Amino acid sequence: MAHDSFRPSAPVVKSAVLISMPKSVPAATIREKLEAAARKVMKNAHAPYSNFRVGAAILLTNGKIFAGCNVENASYGMTNCAERTAIFSAVAAFGPKIEIEAVAVTNDHEVACSPCGACRQVIYEFGPNATIYFQGSAGPKQAHITDLLPEGFRLK
Ligand code: THU
Repeated sequence: MAHDSFRPSAPVVKSAVLISMPKSVPAATIREKLEAAARKVMKNAHAPYSNFRVGAAILLTNGKIFAGCNVENASYGMTNCAERTAIFSAVAAFGPKIEIEAVAVTNDHEVACSPCGACRQVIYEFGPNATIYFQGSAGPKQAHITDLLPEGFRLK
């Protein structure tokens, strides 16, 4: 297809930043807002191979919220998880100095789903003090990133 004749078939999202969160919001409200954002973006997932749609939303210490979905590929290993999609969007918007305060993960099967090992390492890179909200095997859970990823790798 010629480059200049390309037209996206779906509406284009205006901005990667969803909303700003005021300071000193209760943790329960943060969780609710992040889960709502994650559930919404989950619908955009490209998951034809697993049929498992995932949404993630992150709150930065600057109050901004970003969301991302999983994007699979016919070459399965190229798949990008929802958490990394959200984090990479935030870096693209604000640069590498962002700090992640909290992450929420949702999935369309409503089953237990914590961030995979690769995503834990990427969360740790930008959020060594982040709180993660997810569905555990016995219901909703929250955990500090260092509980999910003890001894995370750092060069700096
Ligand atoms: N997945 C995520 O996006 N995040 C998680 O926390 C767990 C797994 C995706 C990757 C793949 O597209 C699908 O879920 C099934 O593994």
